[in-house]
Amino acid sequence: MCGIVGYYGPQDPKDVIVSGLKRLEYRGYDSAGVAILNDGKFKVVRAPGKLGELQKKLETEKFNGALGIGHTRWATHGVPNERNAHPHKVNGVSLVHNGIIENYAQIKERLRKDGVEFSSDTDSELVAHLIARKVKDTKDLFKAVQQVLPELTGAYSILVVWEDQPDTMVAFKNGPPLIIGVGEKEAVIASDVQAIISHTKKVMYLEDFEVAKVQGNKIEIFSATGEPRKKEIHQIEWSAEQVEKAGFKHFMLKEIHEQPRAVANAIAPHIRLDSKTVQLKNVGFSVNSLDELAKVDSEKDALATAEKLKGIERIFIVACGTSNYAGMAGKYLLERIAKIPVECDIASEFRYREPVIPPRSLVLVISQSGETADTLAALRLAKQAGATTMSICNVRHSTIDRESHGHLYMNSGAEIGVASTKAFVSTLGILNVFSIYLGRLRQAISEQQEKEFVDALLAAPAQMEAVLAYDRFFAEASGRLKAFRGLLYMGRGINFPLALEGALKLKELAYMHAEGYAAGEMKHGPLALIDERMLIVMVAPHDNHYEKTVSNLEEARARGGKIISIGTGDDPALKGISDFYLSLPKASWTINPILEAIPLQLLAYHVADAMGHDVDQPRNLAKSVTVE
Ligand code: AGP
Repeated sequence: MCGIVGYYGPQDPKDVIVSGLKRLEYRGYDSAGVAILNDGKFKVVRAPGKLGELQKKLETEKFNGALGIGHTRWATHGVPNERNAHPHKVNGVSLVHNGIIENYAQIKERLRKDGVEFSSDTDSELVAHLIARKVKDTKDLFKAVQQVLPELTGAYSILVVWEDQPDTMVAFKNGPPLIIGVGEKEAVIASDVQAIISHTKKVMYLEDFEVAKVQGNKIEIFSATGEPRKKEIHQIEWSAEQVEKAGFKHFMLKEIHEQPRAVANAIAPHIRLDSKTVQLKNVGFSVNSLDELAKVDSEKDALATAEKLKGIERIFIVACGTSNYAGMAGKYLLERIAKIPVECDIASEFRYREPVIPPRSLVLVISQSGETADTLAALRLAKQAGATTMSICNVRHSTIDRESHGHLYMNSGAEIGVASTKAFVSTLGILNVFSIYLGRLRQAISEQQEKEFVDALLAAPAQMEAVLAYDRFFAEASGRLKAFRGLLYMGRGINFPLALEGALKLKELAYMHAEGYAAGEMKHGPLALIDERMLIVMVAPHDNHYEKTVSNLEEARARGGKIISIGTGDDPALKGISDFYLSLPKASWTINPILEAIPLQLLAYHVADAMGHDVDQPRNLAKSVTVE
């Protein structure tokens, strides 16, 4: 997930773009770059590493043009270095891209056959080549983009400029956000309003497959086929306090929107981009304390971790609340990918049920706060039983983190909202990494399978950004949703823990009755609950449970149930039996839970907000349950 900024206007584009990138640096900081008009040419300056490295390079650079684009990168294709940094320039066309071009291999092969030589390993550069080839015929950048659009599949937001039209910038997207700031004789286009707000509070939101054309002081929006689009100009009303919430009404909503970044931050340390393989970086099995972990020898630690984990024959995952539901999803990942037996326990049960923990067991505890009393007690019990222990925490140096043998981190940044969101999806990202790692260590997956699982993980942040668009849907639907007497969340397989999590979110935020159920259990009782005042939320992506889940839904429909279904792409079967249908991007079964979490969180958030509840601090709850 990257940050992109484009500017046309009377200010110095370098200042506007760099300050905008600074506001977007959280979206990725593997490398950064700008392409800004100078003497009729777009001068490209790029640097690996954080934005500061680019700023050093730009100190001595002067530009006399009015137009420029910039980018701060989270690498998905091609290792983070200057060669792979954006903008990419091809024959006068310069471009920045956030997202993933899924059909990049086919495009690259086609271009290679035409004799094209590449200056990077990125999928983004290919789009610059495609546009540069088209613009030779169209002699117009906007027309060239229109002709290239149908060739692209994937999640992308792109800004592109061309030296033969030095007053024109074209923007287009499918998935990741692009927002257009409408200033007095200037335009700022960026991934987030944070990069725009200091120039104007008037914005337009570009929708998927729309194309924006900035030409001089004119901003026009078109459909992909060229029909003009009339767009509403929204006024951003931010109070000073809201700036701290980055313009969001609540910390929880801000944290829901931070989730693509949170997953990216969680998995990045453990992914080797060049080989598309995973590693467990600095877990700490080679040291005895967290203080030593700070100075650990990564190579030595990797060997100690492999030595420790390859002897493991069973895993216990122990946690509370939302962390427990993440752990339950982890069971499906670990058993299907690593072929290792996994037991999941609620910590308050585990600590008192006198669990039988055989030798060569790993007890994996999950805790955002790292201070949950029951989870800590379970960890201590496991250590007393001689088990190897690992934790997945968000708060470093928390008690659970300190007392575990091995350490993995959610890396989500501070989670202020009591209802856990970004920590949950980060944990799912880490459990993906852990499953793939153990799968390779136990020779349960091939090299090709590992690459596919890693590719699916790398695509997740951009796909998550596409799903965040449902924020406005639930804001509008929340009034109707709160009228139901209760909600029944259901799913099968790895989607079942998501049903549990969705129900928990609604309970803890809206104080409404909600239950999560395995969809296969419907006939064993819940079917009796269903009438027109019970809203069913069915999590039904295109995975190996899809057909059975749809037939469960038809049973519920036949009894008058009202239905929200969450599925993959355009799904006429689900749409036909649902009152509301929410589509997710096509993703691996391992990634679906990360995408499904977002609408489930937004539903609960907006219903609670519509009820006037204190979303960030729901009644009776605390962010960390440090007592039994
Ligand atoms: C989740 O929204 C709740 N705040 C709660 O269930 C929480 O997940 C649980 O208390 C566990 O907290 P932890 O992850 O900090 O251990």
